[in-house]
Amino acid sequence: MLKRVAIFASGNGSNFEALYQAQVNKEIDISIELVVTNNKDAYVIKRAQEYNVEVYIVDYKKDSESEIEANIIKQLKEKEVTLVLLAGYLKKIGPLLINHCPIINIHPSYLPKYKGLNAIERAFMNGDEYIGVSVHYIDEQLDNGPIIMQEGIRVNNNSLEKTIEEVHKLEHHLYVASLQKVLEEI
Ligand code: GRF
Repeated sequence: MLKRVAIFASGNGSNFEALYQAQVNKEIDISIELVVTNNKDAYVIKRAQEYNVEVYIVDYKKDSESEIEANIIKQLKEKEVTLVLLAGYLKKIGPLLINHCPIINIHPSYLPKYKGLNAIERAFMNGDEYIGVSVHYIDEQLDNGPIIMQEGIRVNNNSLEKTIEEVHKLEHHLYVASLQKVLEEI
C-alpha cells in the first residue's frame, strides 16, 4: 500500500533525491508529501521545489523543540504522513515526534560505531578496512535504535574524497532497499 512519508534534511539532500527518484521509478511505494528542514539555506530545499514537494522550515532559535515538534506533527497529520525518514537532519528528535510515528534514519557507519558527525572521516582516519552504512529506526538516543539494514564498502587505497563518494552511493541504494524491506513488513 502506498505510504505517505516526510523527509527531514538539513543539507545537500542527495538522499532525498535518491528517494524521490526511486518513488518516480516505482522502486518503492512511497509518496513524499513534505520536506522538513531547520536550515533555510539547505540545498535540499531547491531539490524539493524543483519537484514541487512542499517544504516546511523550522527555526530552533525562535521556537522550543516541543513547539517545533507540535507544529511538525500538525503538518504530518494534515498530509496524512505516517512515516518519517531522516536524511541528514542535524537536530535531535524529541519525545513528541518519536511517539507520533515510526522514524527511520540513515547513518554512514556500522552502528553502533561512529555515532554523530563526521563518521566517515573518523572511520577513514582510524584506518578501518570497511566503512559501513546503517539504516535504522530511531529512539531517544543519537544514532541509535533497531537496525533495518547494514552494508559497507571496502576502502582499499582510495582517497578520503573517493571513499566519501562511494559511501554516499551506497547510502542511496541502501535507503531504497531498506524501505522496500520495511514496506513489505508493514
Ligand atoms: C548522509 O551521509 C547521511 O547518512 C547522514 O547525513 C548525510 C546526508 O547527506 N545522516 P545528503 O544531505 O542526503 O546528501
